[in-house]
Amino acid sequence: MTDHHVIFMPSGKRGRFATGTPVLTAARQLGVDLDSVCGGRGICSKCQVQPGEGSFPKLGVTVSPGALSEFNAVERRYDEKRGLKPGRRLGCQATVQGDVVIDVPPESQVHRQVVRKAASDKPIVMDPATRLHFVTVEEPDMDAPSGDLERLRDALESQWGLNGLEIALPLLRQVQPVLRAGNWQVTVAVNHDENRITALFPGLRETPLLGLAIDLGSTTIAAHLCDLSTGEVRASGGMMNPQIRFGEDLMSRVSYSMMNPGGDLEMTAAVRQALDALAVELATEAGIPSGDIVEAVIVCNPVMHHLLLGVDPVELGQSPFALATSDALRLAASDIGLTSIADGARVYVLPCIAGHVGADAAAVALAEAPDQADPLTLIVDVGTNAEIILGNRERLLACSSPTGPAFEGAQISAGQRAAPGAIERVQIDPVTKEPRFRVIGSELWSDEDGFAEATKASGITGICGSGIIEAVAEMRMAGIVDAKGLIGSPAQVGSSRLELDGRTHSYLLWEGDDRRIQVTQNDIRAIQLAKSALYAGARLLMDEAGVDTVDKITLAGAFGAHISPKHAMVLGMIPDADLTAVTSAGNAAGHGARIALCNRAARAHIEGLVRRIEKIETAVAPRFQEHFVAANAIPHATAPFPHLMA
Ligand code: FES
Repeated sequence: MTDHHVIFMPSGKRGRFATGTPVLTAARQLGVDLDSVCGGRGICSKCQVQPGEGSFPKLGVTVSPGALSEFNAVERRYDEKRGLKPGRRLGCQATVQGDVVIDVPPESQVHRQVVRKAASDKPIVMDPATRLHFVTVEEPDMDAPSGDLERLRDALESQWGLNGLEIALPLLRQVQPVLRAGNWQVTVAVNHDENRITALFPGLRETPLLGLAIDLGSTTIAAHLCDLSTGEVRASGGMMNPQIRFGEDLMSRVSYSMMNPGGDLEMTAAVRQALDALAVELATEAGIPSGDIVEAVIVCNPVMHHLLLGVDPVELGQSPFALATSDALRLAASDIGLTSIADGARVYVLPCIAGHVGADAAAVALAEAPDQADPLTLIVDVGTNAEIILGNRERLLACSSPTGPAFEGAQISAGQRAAPGAIERVQIDPVTKEPRFRVIGSELWSDEDGFAEATKASGITGICGSGIIEAVAEMRMAGIVDAKGLIGSPAQVGSSRLELDGRTHSYLLWEGDDRRIQVTQNDIRAIQLAKSALYAGARLLMDEAGVDTVDKITLAGAFGAHISPKHAMVLGMIPDADLTAVTSAGNAAGHGARIALCNRAARAHIEGLVRRIEKIETAVAPRFQEHFVAANAIPHATAPFPHLMA
């Protein structure tokens, strides 16, 4: 029998196939990424391809007219009913008749690249765990009795090669009504990561399924609702973590659990309710039923992880900070209170790295991929507890450092969360010592026309984490604060903004009719303690790696996105580096959750990587204290900061 050259683009995969071979069959044999939901019945249109015309000298092929078969009855019926774009063919119906170059458009590829959500996001290649499979199921027969589920499984095996699929009880209850509603034709959502049926739909389901990528933080919960076939973000949203009422930071929540019998369960119930409500809210915003959500991926720190799972976090509050489990988890969504999404929906929780370095840090590692690059990269996720990763493709190290909540505006006299009205940027004139600032919600600086009008609604209510970092760094650069962190007197500094405040001085940043915002000596002290802890953690990892400098510094987290690298370095929060090598990764943990949601292989990758990461425990490392004390000075007592001098 004659055979022909078949070349698929853009992959360039090629082979020789006999006359009459369906394009979908040729694609499968060559491992070409061509989608199919209906299994070649000519009804889903996922297998659309575009045959080329004319000659392709570089490929050594000339496509002759009639290289693919004419429309058959199935393809003609599809075209008449639904319409194919000009030149497009159904790959499962068109057969090879001559040498041909076949283009697989992005929408027909399973592993297409996803549009980025933010500029800092790395592209995601789709490899979804959940895929749809349309099957025709044998009707029951008195002479050959077998269960509907068994016949459904037989159909999945014979038509898609899927065997041994698990199914949960709530979904088993749907098998009979769905099969009959679909007249024995049904679309099955299969989670291939778990070899499990997660949803059933009568007939052919053409609308995509959705998944949630959730970053469960101690202060806020952020989630993206994603299309599981394209990766497109259909809705995004966030809310405050309702556990805040039990304690602002992680350790106060652990204490609440220790002091109040059943307190952990109260916190578990609160966060589960919030997640379920957020799922419904995002589904409503996207205009889809929440039952279309068949998967969720969750990243969080270890305390949030345990409280979400209903595990008492008390062991995380005391040495040796043992996790109940550090492994990745695959759970029924209903097990963690996500009851408003699909009955068979599954949840994947990323693995934790160590007792204080959670699944959120693992997600940051997944998003930033330091293990796939040569430059030695220091990644800092700044929060109440800083999670720090250092390494490259050779070796990865991680630790956490107890920075406390000062970087989030807590423990600061005029501190507040980052919200409209909070001072977020500060500049101080080194000669006049006069400040100018910007508040969240306005693009204008305080000395620009229109500032009063622009901030009328929010007012000026306090100073947030990035604001206090800039204020202290600017005070140091303007000579208001010395290297030890002491605020000078009005006479020493030459400014009436310095005021005696007990036995120390404060710097007046702003004064309104009923509110004054100062930077006090205690504020400086709180920032010194926080930044020393952060620096000491980073330095400890550098000691372990045997280096004095790093090639790249990445500031992760929502807060990291707002820190000015220059001010962070002036303070000595981070080690010295070329300022152009200090970048923000935005919400890298949230992006890591999206990657794990859209790409099944990424789950196996991060599980392997976490096992490989060397965990350094700061609490028992003698050099941590040494580094901490030396880092109290601004920027540092002994370490040189040559890039600040430049
Ligand atoms: Fe469904 Fe071709 S595979 S139409």
